[in-house]
Amino acid sequence: MPELLFDVEKVRADFPILHQDVNGQPLVYLDSAATTQKPNAVIDAISDYYRNDNSNVHRGAHALADRATVKFEAARAKVAAFLNAPDAKQIIWTRGTTESINLVANCWGRSNLRAGDRVLVSAMEHHSNIVPWQLVADALGASVEPIPVDVTGTIDLSAFEAMLDDRVKMVSVGHVSNALGSINPVEKIIALAHATGAKVTVDGAQAVSHWAVDVQALDCDFYAFSAHKLFGPTGLGVLYGKRELLEAMPPYQGGGEMIETVSFAGTTFNQLPYKFEAGTPDIAGAIGFGAAIDYLNSIDRKAAAAHEQALLAYAEEKARNTSGIKLIGTSANKTSVMSFILEGAHPADVGVLLDKQGIAVRTGNHCAQPIMDQYGIPGTVRASFSFYNTFAEVDRLFAAIEKAKTFLL
Ligand code: ALA
Repeated sequence: MPELLFDVEKVRADFPILHQDVNGQPLVYLDSAATTQKPNAVIDAISDYYRNDNSNVHRGAHALADRATVKFEAARAKVAAFLNAPDAKQIIWTRGTTESINLVANCWGRSNLRAGDRVLVSAMEHHSNIVPWQLVADALGASVEPIPVDVTGTIDLSAFEAMLDDRVKMVSVGHVSNALGSINPVEKIIALAHATGAKVTVDGAQAVSHWAVDVQALDCDFYAFSAHKLFGPTGLGVLYGKRELLEAMPPYQGGGEMIETVSFAGTTFNQLPYKFEAGTPDIAGAIGFGAAIDYLNSIDRKAAAAHEQALLAYAEEKARNTSGIKLIGTSANKTSVMSFILEGAHPADVGVLLDKQGIAVRTGNHCAQPIMDQYGIPGTVRASFSFYNTFAEVDRLFAAIEKAKTFLL
């Protein structure tokens, strides 16, 4: 086993869910790309909020409302600092990455796309970065076209460059593929797209848990992700946008908080970010997410990332030495996601047999049907590692695969 450079047992102590048996075996949680587990700090912050501060934000004339508002807005400021956004007003709370992308597709798309315009997405996008664009493009007579991806799961940058013309108005790409783990060269994609006048949305759902994203250095126009992929609660997402674009966009949904004045003669809208936040937001979620960011800032993230890469290298080496396993997604630049098939077995059957041995993985098409079609497979088994996983857990995975093989092959 590789030498440990990160105190994994110390961080594991912060995640209560990891310390349980599943189907009579100690749980091995290898599904962090679906959702990350939550440290005590997050669970406690949500519980404390409901025990002590629960109130609506921005509305009440009382102490609880004041406390809730201060904590809620402090969480927004933490996200802005986390992304190096110029201003917390450019951080919009949504329900998740999916809603963030739908917001951009609807609010930016409907006011900027015309018949004949083109939206480019990569061939390995999650459905949530394909379908929102298709819905809007279909309504406007625009098109959504895939940027080719090679057999390793790497974007073909020359093909992308050749696709760019003045009808391409938006390029929307994942920072990291959820199905394959490929890290996409978004810096180059953004520079090339901007050179022809296109805007760029980055789906950061699978990137934010692995390294510090800097939206100003990237120069992306929009960046979307979910709190639950970053050790925070489900039901909360973030959309960062460049101020001038957000200012020019119409609101997403109508309701309370997003207005300035309402009358039957006409309604005017609130300032950023509230213009895009109709209705009571996920206050507890935002406060819990603020605690997740504090937690991440308290650990050595570079050492955590190095540990994740060591887990991936160890697992992929074992996979290459295991008969019957074929890795799907072998790009040179990957996060700690190992997607594979066991030749002769359906991924769903492998998943069931691993679960019986206490190992949690995701199986299926990972909401990325086009790239699965390109590989000619119905789906994969996906083991995704976070910094709280251990080399011993990788060994458990491979022992369980060997046992599954005796049933399946
Ligand atoms: N998008 C999440 C995943 O890849 C749910 O599993």
